[in-house]
Amino acid sequence: MKLCMIGTGYVGLVSGVCFADLGNDVICVDKDLKKIDSLKKGNIPIYEPGLTELVIKNFKNKRLKFSNNLKKSIKDSDIIFVCVGTPTKKGGSSADLSQIYQVAKEISLSINKFKIIVTKSTVPVTTGDEIEKILLKRNNKNKFAVISNPEFLREGEAIRDFTYPDRIVVGANDKKSNRIMNTLYTPLISKGAQYINTSRKAAELIKYASNAFLATKITFINEIANLCEKTGIDVEDISIGMGLDKRIGGRFLRAGPAYGGSCFPKDTKAITSTADKFKTDLSVIKSVIKSNKNRSNLLLGRVFKILKNKIRNKRITFLGVTFKANTDDMRDSSSLSMIPALVKKGAKIKYYDPTGFKKEFSKTKNVSYIDNIKDSVKGSDLVIIHTEWNDFKSINFRNLVKGKKFIIYDMRNIYSPSKIINQGFKYYCIGK
Ligand code: UDX
Repeated sequence: MKLCMIGTGYVGLVSGVCFADLGNDVICVDKDLKKIDSLKKGNIPIYEPGLTELVIKNFKNKRLKFSNNLKKSIKDSDIIFVCVGTPTKKGGSSADLSQIYQVAKEISLSINKFKIIVTKSTVPVTTGDEIEKILLKRNNKNKFAVISNPEFLREGEAIRDFTYPDRIVVGANDKKSNRIMNTLYTPLISKGAQYINTSRKAAELIKYASNAFLATKITFINEIANLCEKTGIDVEDISIGMGLDKRIGGRFLRAGPAYGGSCFPKDTKAITSTADKFKTDLSVIKSVIKSNKNRSNLLLGRVFKILKNKIRNKRITFLGVTFKANTDDMRDSSSLSMIPALVKKGAKIKYYDPTGFKKEFSKTKNVSYIDNIKDSVKGSDLVIIHTEWNDFKSINFRNLVKGKKFIIYDMRNIYSPSKIINQGFKYYCIGK
């Protein structure tokens, strides 16, 4: 099939290249000329394992194209995927849909034959109705269908998640576009993916409800971890004990720092804001947002306690600063609030991250990037394992430092406390 992905951000690029790999002709469009030029040269703007290879492969075999000519790309395609950003509105909590509506206006000018317009971007319930209204201003009803097909890709696992999805959700109000979408996804369905067809509005809400539920699950175990710390219980026993109940499931029950990333913080806010608009109080999700916001302060409080409230001139190392492993994404990472707060108290911060220097800290005084683990921990008073990169999972701390030993605060529960303590280090973790 001939597909057009509008927006070559995370969602558009990953989905586009994966669709091309399944044998479709895909044009990825972006108004950012520089980005398009560099994509054509095989330079990928995001860090995602396996993505570069897949882009180069499909670009070479000509199934994947890059363009900044939106009109032509729309005219040449049968299915148009809208993959532009829906960030939180400045100073508010609802989703900013200006890019979506702008794209809808542009699509409305280029409909030359029947098109399926798919929102892959995460959009609040009823956005599809609004897009339809925009398209109807210039086009006949039988010339297009607007459907919702949310993505559930995790950063760092995106290609795997695309290829082996738990489910494919298509919110289509008409049979014809549902049939076409089902055909598009047949290679994944035949490998076992569940395909469900819902109303357009239901698909829009499934995405938000799923992310809000996962955020709730993480926040729940984070709060249980707080209780475990007070009562001398290992939160990992609780996660296993709860997770074995099939109704609960063991995934997303790892206690750690506040959840972050490009989706959970933004989507939990947006769903509560949508519900407020419809005069419905999503009080559980509101509590999750509050609890998660408080989590970084809570962990910081623990850092102060570990350092006996003497933070001035303490040398603190962060191992990992991204919101999770296998991504270079810093959006809403808890390190963004923790590091400046420690600096404010007089700490001197060094950080190492496998994805390198972060511009987010370039203007923060007393924060320096070190390009290897060994030098980053040298001379430290406290080492905080902030992100669960594989690189940090089998460090032999005893061999790494000669002489003075630092304290370790393992915010991802990577290590077994007794092993680290036996090496002569003071060790703290989460929920134990
Ligand atoms: C998420 C959803 O999983 C994905 O389906 C959606 O499309 C986009 O948002 P992503 O933001 O890439 O994906 O990351 P995810 O792996 O879900 O982790 C989100 C946050 O939760 C991270 O900060 C992570 O560290 C945290 N997390 C996750 C935990 O603290 N504990 C867990 O058990 C799982």
